[in-house]
Amino acid sequence: MTLRLSTAGESHGPALVAIMSGLPAGLELDREAIDRDLKRRQEGYGRSPRQQIEQDRVEVLAGLRQGRTLGTPLALVVRNNDHKNWTWGMNPWQPEGEPHGKGTKAVTLPRPGHADLPGVLKYDHDDVRNSLERASARHTAVHVAVGGVAKAMLATIGITVEGSTVDEPHLKERIDEARKARDTVGGVIEVRARNVPVGLGSYAEKDDRLDARLAFALMGIQAVKGVEIGDGFALADMLGSEAHDELRPGFTRDTNHAGGLEGGISNGEEIIIRAAMKPLPTLMKPLASVDLETHEAGLALVERSDVAAVEALAVIAEAAVAWELARTAHEKFGGDSIGDFVAAHRAYVERIANR
Ligand SMILES: Cc1cc2nc3c(=O)[nH]c(=O)nc-3n(C[C@H](O)[C@H](O)[C@H](O)COP(=O)(O)O)c2cc1C
Repeated sequence: MTLRLSTAGESHGPALVAIMSGLPAGLELDREAIDRDLKRRQEGYGRSPRQQIEQDRVEVLAGLRQGRTLGTPLALVVRNNDHKNWTWGMNPWQPEGEPHGKGTKAVTLPRPGHADLPGVLKYDHDDVRNSLERASARHTAVHVAVGGVAKAMLATIGITVEGSTVDEPHLKERIDEARKARDTVGGVIEVRARNVPVGLGSYAEKDDRLDARLAFALMGIQAVKGVEIGDGFALADMLGSEAHDELRPGFTRDTNHAGGLEGGISNGEEIIIRAAMKPLPTLMKPLASVDLETHEAGLALVERSDVAAVEALAVIAEAAVAWELARTAHEKFGGDSIGDFVAAHRAYVERIANR
């Protein structure tokens, strides 16, 4: 059975939800480990005051009994504490009484760089909020919870996944300067997956390729505009003799320019993938916009917003890579129970070791 994921939830709605299906039964989950990742996502320099309102915690509504998966759909929830300030504006039903709280006035000044203009035109909305609420990266919270489940599954076969920002010595200063100028910044993150066996993914069809699937997983995150695997763009300037990782007896290598992927298949080396994040589109010094109602020039919506979210992106990207690797590993090793999954992995690794 393939692992599948569906999510729902608006930024200021009552909650974010995820349903994961196809998970093997008997996988042990650690609530605190998932909550730690949720906390990591909220941290980082340059985040907005929203992070003080939210204290993300995972709740499980189905698919888990006494800490172990049942092999049935796993339903995860992360609530939005901030919803209490938006109960009228984000009411799922026609609200009663006088408008109160936030989100009661239609937003008509789309922010360049956000989903605002294409969203309202595509869906024929009058209020930009009807687009921005889902386009917002708030729902990455529940994706991080999903990543926690994926990491638990990968850990049973020894795979670890870790995201971090790519060393930028002056990140804090850059964020401070941007904040002072009422501007925003982006950045670069890296995810490394260790102990991935050779043979995940395939060259058979392009959507089987693990490099393509990992790039898709990262591109699917808001504000990610570039992805590279291994030495990525730098490979274009190298000679073949410099770029490729020569083989030594015992099938070892001294280098890993390929980032652990050849022919769309994991090659047994560490998987290394990076993503570039654009500067966030909501500026306190708003960009030029045009009013959707009057068609007159104006200034884009200003709403409480992060100056930077690159450290959060590292956690979200880690979750996205973990989920994609868990899916690929489950396609290869299968198993309705976690024991079957682990046994199939063990048998496969033994076969490879004997080559
Ligand atoms: C962790 C994270 C936090 C973000 N926070 C903000 C924010 O506070 N303000 C903002 O304008 N954009 C923020 N973004 C980026 C927007 O969600 C994103 O630019 C927007 O949805 C448009 O999508 P696109 O950039 O992929 O085209 C954030 C993205 C991530 C990954």
